[in-house]
Amino acid sequence: MTIDHKIIWNEVKDYMFIALGLFLYTIAFTVFLMPYQIVAGGVTGLSAIIYYATGFHLENTYIIINGILLLVALKILGYKFLMKTIFAIFTLYFMLRFAQDIIPKQDNGLPFKLMGEGQDFMSMIIGCVITGIALATVFLHNGSTGGTDIIAASVNKYHNVSLGSVLIAADFCIIGSCMFFPQFGTYLERAHKVMFGFCVMAMENYVLDYVMNARRQSVQFFIFSRKWQEIANAIGTQMNHGVTILDGHGWYTGKQMKVLCILAKKNESVNMFRLIKMIDPNAFVSQSSVIGVYGEGFDEMKVKIKNIEEKKKMKIVFATNNLNKLSEVRKILGNKFEVLSLGEIGCHDDIPEKGQTLKDNALIKAQWVYDKYHVNCFADDTGLEVDALGGAPGVYSARYAGGVGHDSEANMKKLLSELENNDNRKARFRTVIALIIDGKVTTFDGIVNGVITEGKRGGEGFGYDPIFMPEGYNKTFAELGTGIKNNISHRAKAVQKLADYLLKR
Ligand code: IMP
Repeated sequence: MTIDHKIIWNEVKDYMFIALGLFLYTIAFTVFLMPYQIVAGGVTGLSAIIYYATGFHLENTYIIINGILLLVALKILGYKFLMKTIFAIFTLYFMLRFAQDIIPKQDNGLPFKLMGEGQDFMSMIIGCVITGIALATVFLHNGSTGGTDIIAASVNKYHNVSLGSVLIAADFCIIGSCMFFPQFGTYLERAHKVMFGFCVMAMENYVLDYVMNARRQSVQFFIFSRKWQEIANAIGTQMNHGVTILDGHGWYTGKQMKVLCILAKKNESVNMFRLIKMIDPNAFVSQSSVIGVYGEGFDEMKVKIKNIEEKKKMKIVFATNNLNKLSEVRKILGNKFEVLSLGEIGCHDDIPEKGQTLKDNALIKAQWVYDKYHVNCFADDTGLEVDALGGAPGVYSARYAGGVGHDSEANMKKLLSELENNDNRKARFRTVIALIIDGKVTTFDGIVNGVITEGKRGGEGFGYDPIFMPEGYNKTFAELGTGIKNNISHRAKAVQKLADYLLKR
């Protein structure tokens, strides 16, 4: 059979089994439940309640409610599912009509009591076992009887909630609604109906889940045999099944051995045992049922990826309270890491920068945070190195004009006056980053070459940005803005190296 034929055949098979399931459902409903006015869940159950109470034909209520629910299904469920649902709804509609026409009636217009008078409970048990099997048959062939099944299948599509559980919730409300129909007699009589309905619900859903899980049930084999190669080969080629070989060590024999590990569908067990027995009747085999198997050929894992991705984001502290630096670094690292500032971890210390080099200062700051807070962190130190000034201000950039530091206006003023009438205006920004992850220290650097302008230009950025013009541009960092600066700056280069390192770990 070609793949196309296989697909068509599978589809035809689905429709045939759905029809069979609906046939069983119709028999169960009209022969075992309706004659005794037994209420049930689902839209069929709701339609029956309305019929018992008002005489409004069951199949008509059924088709009206399903018409509305189909609009919902159109949005949530796939086209294929919808086709089968429409097929199922119309088939069940006609089957219910037809069954009521041909089944002999009692005086009250309800189908006759096959199980005889007073056999309500027995009839309910038989009816529920059949409806449970019927619904499972429909579901297992990607169909639905419409109604609450649409709600259940929609929920099941996104969440790992069993179909049975969703149906129970919907049915609970439908059956409970009997209490509001005075036509069902006194409150006590209505309560009886509801109790019967709950029994129907429990039985039907139990059978439904049982049949569905039995079909899906998976088992795990461990096979210990001297002929492990032959067995693995046979399972691989004859059953077209994957095999994993684990290294084992026999404690008593003291010998190395191989153990075959296989996850399979329960219905493959017999063939598996046959093969093993044919090759090595003395093989030692353990078979256990597993709660679930997820992966190719088995079930799909129904968890939301987004939350996992978010949880995976690694937290890392940037030892700074400089908001400009923080936002520059977050723009580069933000997607993959949660970058926290010193303030965000409650650190308001004025960390002394007494090192002789940029690297020393970066290390001092990172180590301070790591020692005090035991968190993965990194710190940077940046310096502006001007050729005509022998590399000054360099590590002293922050305090170039004296004072406690970071008076950018005073620093720029001093630098411009030092370079007055000097044609050699070559300079570079150098950043060194020290990273500490689980106690391990690594450093990265980044350099951008450029020139010092004659005067201040531009309003963006910070520090020496208004007087530094990077190579290849005729605007200062303060004129270029953070968008461009973040692509070419000293810090961007160092942070990019840091990001590459962190992502490779
Ligand atoms: P620190 O790395 O924060 O110690 O900075 C040393 C000095 O360089 C400070 O005066 C900062 O304002 C200045 N600085 C650091 N990074 C930049 C930058 O990207 N552009 C301009 N000035 C900077």
